[in-house]
Amino acid sequence: MLSPLSSRSLTPAPGRRGALVLATLVALVASASSLAADPVRPELTPKLQGLLQKEMLQIEQAMQEVYSAMLQGRHAVVAEKGQAIHDSFILEQSLTDEDRQDLKAAVPQAFLQMDATLHELSASLAEAGQAQDTARQVALYGRMTESCVACHGAYVTDRFEGLEGADIPAGWGMAPSAQGNDPQD
Ligand code: HEC
Repeated sequence: MLSPLSSRSLTPAPGRRGALVLATLVALVASASSLAADPVRPELTPKLQGLLQKEMLQIEQAMQEVYSAMLQGRHAVVAEKGQAIHDSFILEQSLTDEDRQDLKAAVPQAFLQMDATLHELSASLAEAGQAQDTARQVALYGRMTESCVACHGAYVTDRFEGLEGADIPAGWGMAPSAQGNDPQD
């Protein structure tokens, strides 16, 4: 878990699911208060920024390919591209330890949380492709799109000005397992 959120001062967590919900609430508050948060780009090293841009373009391309494949029932492509998004995830890449430290130091917890959410969703999308489960693919695709918009709307408004002040639901970009409506359930 990337976010070592302390919930000790709150009531005892009723088990793991309760702890997750609690962590989500804390994260929600954190992300709500960081709307119109400072853009992260100025905090990134040039290397990290270059890497991130490259990743984002790859992810966008893969998302477009998934869209087309999904609505034509080309499940193998959905599985393959879902996996590609998962694998190209920036934190999973072959960053040096120092890059990783730089990244974690540069961005807020909620940013890492949204990144982790996209990671989780793309793995589920790959599974839904393998399972030839079209309804689940469509649901997950929507959730992934939410995570793109949520992160850009909170942390990249210096570049995506049209998302500045956008009315983005607080749950967007939050982990499905922590939202209580996991498409896997
Ligand atoms: C955790 C935060 C986060 C998430 C989630 C996220 N992005 Fe991004 N995205 C960024 C940041 C930061 C930039 C700005 C990079 C820069 O310009 O340095 C960016 C930029 C982009 C760009 C512009 C790339 C370029 O340089 O031309 C595209 C396209 C993009 N994202 C697509 C996506 C898509 C598609 C998704 C969802 C499937 C997504 N992003 C999810 C943080 C995120």
